Parts: sequence; C-alpha cells; structure tokens
Amino acid sequence: MREEILSLKNQAIAQISAAKSAEDLEELRIAYLGRSGKLTELFKRIKSVPSEEKKLVGVLINEAKNALTSLLSERKNSLKESARDWFDPTIPGIKPPRGHLHLVTHAIDEIANTFAQIGFVRVRYPEVEWDWFAFGGLNMPKDHPARDEWETFFVEGLNHPKFGEMVLTPQTSSGQLREMQRVKTPPIRMINIAKCYRRQIDVSHFPMFHQFEGLVIDEGISIAHLKGTLDYFARNFFGKERKTRLRPFHFQFTEPSFEVDITCGICEGKGCKVCKGGWLELGGAGMVHPVVLKNGGIDPSKYTGFAFGWGVERTYMMKSGLSIPDIRLLYSSGLQFLRQF
Ligand code: PHE
Repeated sequence: MREEILSLKNQAIAQISAAKSAEDLEELRIAYLGRSGKLTELFKRIKSVPSEEKKLVGVLINEAKNALTSLLSERKNSLKESARDWFDPTIPGIKPPRGHLHLVTHAIDEIANTFAQIGFVRVRYPEVEWDWFAFGGLNMPKDHPARDEWETFFVEGLNHPKFGEMVLTPQTSSGQLREMQRVKTPPIRMINIAKCYRRQIDVSHFPMFHQFEGLVIDEGISIAHLKGTLDYFARNFFGKERKTRLRPFHFQFTEPSFEVDITCGICEGKGCKVCKGGWLELGGAGMVHPVVLKNGGIDPSKYTGFAFGWGVERTYMMKSGLSIPDIRLLYSSGLQFLRQF
C-alpha cells in the first residue's frame, strides 16, 4: 500500500503541474480528492490494512493529501497571475462607436433654418402622390410634352377619378397645390423639403434625391420679392459676398420662369476653370402661374406669388466645396465614405 500511495501522489503531482487551466485543476481535484477520488478511496481502505502498518499508511495518505491540496492552490494562483499579465488597466479603453447625422440631413436642417429666419414654415407632403398634384394641376395636362423632363415613376393599378394616376413625386412642386389647399387664404410662406424620384442613375443622378421648394403667395408679391429672397438665401447660406441672377427659362407652372445662378465661390464671379463664366446654376424659379393659383383655390386677380425649387444635394455640394465624384456614394451606406463628414 505504501508504494501505491507514493505512485498515486507522484502521478497527481505530475498532472497538476501540467494543468493549463482552472477547469483542469478542478477536474484533477475531484479525481484525486473528491468524495470518490483516488486518494479518498485509499483512505477508505485503511481499515483493512494490518494494524502495525495502519499508522504509517495514515500518515502517508495525509501527507499526500496536504501536498496535493497546497499544490492545487499554488497552481490556481499562478494561473490567475499569468491571466492577469495581458491585462493592463492603464491602456485606454475602446470607445463605443458613435454615429452622426447624414450629410443630407445636415443640409436639410441648415436650409430649413435659413428660411425659418425669414418666416418660411417647413412642411411636408406625400411623396407618393396623385398625378394632378405633380403634373395636371401644375398646368401640365396629360400627354403634355413638358412632362418628359421629369422621368417619372408610376405606381401601377391606382387611378383616382379626379386626380388621375399615382406617381412617386418627381419634384417638390407637387406640394404647392397641397399648401394652397391647406392654407386656403394667403399669406403663404412655405418651405417644402422632401424626397423626389426620377428614372435616372449615373454619376450625377440618383433615382431618389431631395429638393427644397419655396412658395410665397400674398397680395402684391412681385419678382422683386423673389430676387430679394434668393439674395438673402445666397448671403446667409453660401456667404456674404455671393450674389444671384435670374435667367429667363420655361416651366409650365410659373410665368415668367427663371433659372437661378449664383456667383462662383472660387473666383467671386470673375470666371475661372471651375465655373467658366463666373456663375453656377442653382435651379428653377418663377412667378406662380395664374392657372396654378386657380387650381389651388386662390383668386389670381387678388393674389400673386413666387416659387423656387432646387436640389438639396447639389446646393449643399456647391456650398461646402465638397467635390463628391459620384452622387451615388451619398446613398451607398458605405461607412468609409460617410465617416468623413
Ligand atoms: N420643380 C422644378 C424642377 O424640378 C423647379 C421649379 C420649382 C421651377 C418652382 C419653378 C418653380 O425642376
């Protein structure tokens, strides 16, 4: 029995010394010292040992038990130590990722705030809309060739007896008639910022983009008010020294119609490589057509108004001087791109 005890003890020492984890140690503890562990079993056999050997065997087993117990706890501590080696509490922690607003959301906020300063109220109207609001009521009857400009998406199978088919709004001008119907009696000072959809995709077009549309209707509103509003926007959004000009153009829903240009931010209107002639094109504007006023339930013999509608993405890029090589990047959800802003 003495041999047996010693060899069991040596075997246990070898295994405990080689253990690699706290779980291994615990397994070994149970295997040797547990209730039916190998050493415990030896204890149980003491009663069958001849009496002259009993005392010695008892001492040996106890000694083995103490040795294993202290070796186990020693190994346990040293495993803990080495686990702590790679933990350096002085290293700065890893910050949880923190997002920010999308570039276009920033642009929308900024545009809305600039117009809010001069009393424009931000509104939003349906982006899936009846034809009449998007075209018909804006003086573009069905089959009018001007509609081609707007590359429209149609929603199949929906037809309103009065308002016609359903479309994805190709322009925020669809909000003009909705606003007239809502307010009923002018004054109206609306800024409608919304998504627009057109069947176009390339480096400078995306099927979904944003426009902001201004609409002012009151007694005695003239082109001078339009020009004043555009100049205010140019100064406050683009910079003090920027100026606008109106160029004659054509839209079915405004008369007269204009395209609005702004002096180039690089050469201040003198002409440079970027702008060529000193001016950059912002977008459309004009005096609300009397037919559109009538369609909106407003008396054109009493009230006049102006409207303008431009692309948010384009306007913001012109302000920030960002040269984004492909507009599709804005909506690609690529974090590498978006994190830059
Ligand atoms: N809605 C026109 C467009 O999408 C722009 C515009 C708005 C023109 C308001 C005149 C008045 O191009």
